[in-house]
Amino acid sequence: DMDRFLDDLLKRMTLEEKIGQLNLPVTGEITTGQAKSSDIAAKIKRGEVGGLFNLKGVDKIRDVQRLAVENSRLGIPLLFGMDVIHGYETIFPIPLGLSCTWDIPAIEESARIAAIEASADGISWTFSPMVDISRDPRWGRVSEGSGEDPFLGAQIAQAMVRGYQGKDMRRNDEIMACIKHFALYGAAEAGRDYNTVDMSRQRMFNDYMLPYQAGVEAGAGSVMASFNEVEGVPATANRWLMTDVLRGAWGFNGFVVTDFTGISEMIEHGIGDLQTVSARAINAGVDMDMVSEGFAGTLKKSIEEGKVSVETVNTACRRILEAKYKLGLFDNPYKYCDLKRPARDIFTKEHRAVARRIAGESFVLLKNGQLSPGSSPLLPLSPTGTIAVIGPLANTRSNMPGTWSVAAVLDKSPSLVEGLTEWVGNQAKILYAKGSNLISDAAYEERATLFGRSLNRDNRTDKQLLDEALKIASQSDVIIAALGESSEMSGESSSRTNLDLPDVQHTLLEALLKTGKPVVLVLFTGRPLVLNWEQENVPAILNVWFGGSEAGLAIGDVLFGAVNPSGKLTMTFPKNVGQIPLYYAHKNTGRPLKEGKWFEKFRSNYLDVDNDALYPFGYGLSYTTFRFSDVTLSQPSIGMDNQLVASVTVTNTGDRAGSEVVQLYIRDLVGSVTRPVKELKGFEKIYLQPNESRTVRFTIAPEMLKFYNADLQFVAEPGDFDVMIGPDSQNVKTARFTLR
Ligand code: IFM
Repeated sequence: DMDRFLDDLLKRMTLEEKIGQLNLPVTGEITTGQAKSSDIAAKIKRGEVGGLFNLKGVDKIRDVQRLAVENSRLGIPLLFGMDVIHGYETIFPIPLGLSCTWDIPAIEESARIAAIEASADGISWTFSPMVDISRDPRWGRVSEGSGEDPFLGAQIAQAMVRGYQGKDMRRNDEIMACIKHFALYGAAEAGRDYNTVDMSRQRMFNDYMLPYQAGVEAGAGSVMASFNEVEGVPATANRWLMTDVLRGAWGFNGFVVTDFTGISEMIEHGIGDLQTVSARAINAGVDMDMVSEGFAGTLKKSIEEGKVSVETVNTACRRILEAKYKLGLFDNPYKYCDLKRPARDIFTKEHRAVARRIAGESFVLLKNGQLSPGSSPLLPLSPTGTIAVIGPLANTRSNMPGTWSVAAVLDKSPSLVEGLTEWVGNQAKILYAKGSNLISDAAYEERATLFGRSLNRDNRTDKQLLDEALKIASQSDVIIAALGESSEMSGESSSRTNLDLPDVQHTLLEALLKTGKPVVLVLFTGRPLVLNWEQENVPAILNVWFGGSEAGLAIGDVLFGAVNPSGKLTMTFPKNVGQIPLYYAHKNTGRPLKEGKWFEKFRSNYLDVDNDALYPFGYGLSYTTFRFSDVTLSQPSIGMDNQLVASVTVTNTGDRAGSEVVQLYIRDLVGSVTRPVKELKGFEKIYLQPNESRTVRFTIAPEMLKFYNADLQFVAEPGDFDVMIGPDSQNVKTARFTLR
């Protein structure tokens, strides 16, 4: 059995070989940073490497595995990791978009397909899911997470772990997941990436920790430490996080890997030299050192000096060997090296069809106005006549997958223009003009390389670009404006303080609206943007995030009405950056603004903007309409060991079939500590034909009413609770019950 096998193996290992298992160099094949490890092959043969990451190609991986298995003393197989974040070559929407489907089985399916494809290409381990809660759209990495809500985030974390790991990681299409970035990475001050994090433990456990814990409970094999500090200690050296919480309180028994140079970065954090920070990391409970080579370079010395014990190294090494054992790599180190699989399993027609379906579900219809009173809403469009697709994001394949698509073959994704052209066939004519650069010339000068591989500045002047666009617009019946962020404008190290559409794109949009033709804004973005002007002036807005390899066709599905949009925001869209952090589950304060007011002196508000979101959490329109009945409760009160049922009847009152996400929020009216004005506690996505009604029932049990009190005990307290049900976090119907 495993224990006997590992005991025996560990006995045969030298200290150097044990430390070697803790070392995870990057190949440099797919660069995610500056660091590269030199002379990897020789190190592998000497047993100084535990795994490699971001090497693409099953043949290359097989060759490297052979070095470890056939040319090192003990023949211990390597792990091959990669950032398979929202698909491998078949790319799904960015995680923020995926979360807006509120479709847990679909999200699980996306992870399953990612695992099938990655494993076919030699990968045994993905650095996903990213489960960091964030309430700050300035932070570029909100694109990689599931938004602001811990309850939804926890369900998604579990679905993704199930999708990647399958039943037990034994099959050759099941790979190991990695919960990241532990912990609180999404709470960086001012939304600036890698910045300081500091908050009360009460807030940590009530608002941020649940998705990490849920991922652990779903059996994730690994956890990644975050770059940020927590309570003054970088997470990578934070023993309370890595040992007391993760292993002690939550029972995690996999291994912890650093995030990239997380160990050597602690020198810059200012807590010691490489030897000191490496010792602190392993003593805190970190097992594997990605890239820094701090373990490889200093642990032996620290052991000699008594700063790290041999048992600590043994424990870390055993955890990594155990992961390899559970993956079945000791039985068959070439388990993921079947050279016939890539052609059969990667970027298949079936996978792409699923990606197209899920992309369509991720888009959020933010506005769908009428062109004149009494006429029908602008969307869906009819796929006839002449359609102008205009904008710097209209015809760029490389921009479709979005951030962290390291394995994507960028040229394989049709652009929006190509997708729509294929969609309409010969029913309609699609015209294209770029219309503007992505950002202004001045911004290009300053940040030339940052904003997109293929979105280089056009040689034409702004005026020439605009003139061409207006000419194309004048020949069309309807204009689709493809604007927003390039994929590099969100993601890691892409924080922004201005969340408006870039100036040049705004100018283009204004000019297109002035033509008097109907304009649909198809918005590409990796984060909530500030869209007050657009909401006011553009008749229809479809937020498509970065929808992945099939986005071009999926956008056609929604624009032309083959798919009825059903996405719902998982992050609040603010009215301006100054409101941030703006989130639905806020506290009431002692001086809340009264309902319906936008300002009152000596209340908690601003002089220049109200407290509301432009688009609240949970919001998203459909081509049909839904009516919600009042909420009924099966009983007015419950004791600690029973439960009640809250019901609502939802009716499709429009003329198309469609999906609605029925959302349940609860407010604990009086507590020993203050409680949020509402918290998501349940949801159900239902599909209704026109005129069809469905009664949705939510069981409410005391367990759902628990929170971390001032002593960090997880308790439900007797008292009154409001149950709120609706199509978003704002527009709800309420009933009240008592917990005795
Ligand atoms: O997995 C990533 C992480 O999310 C950010 N830093 C680099 C890691 C490995 O590529």
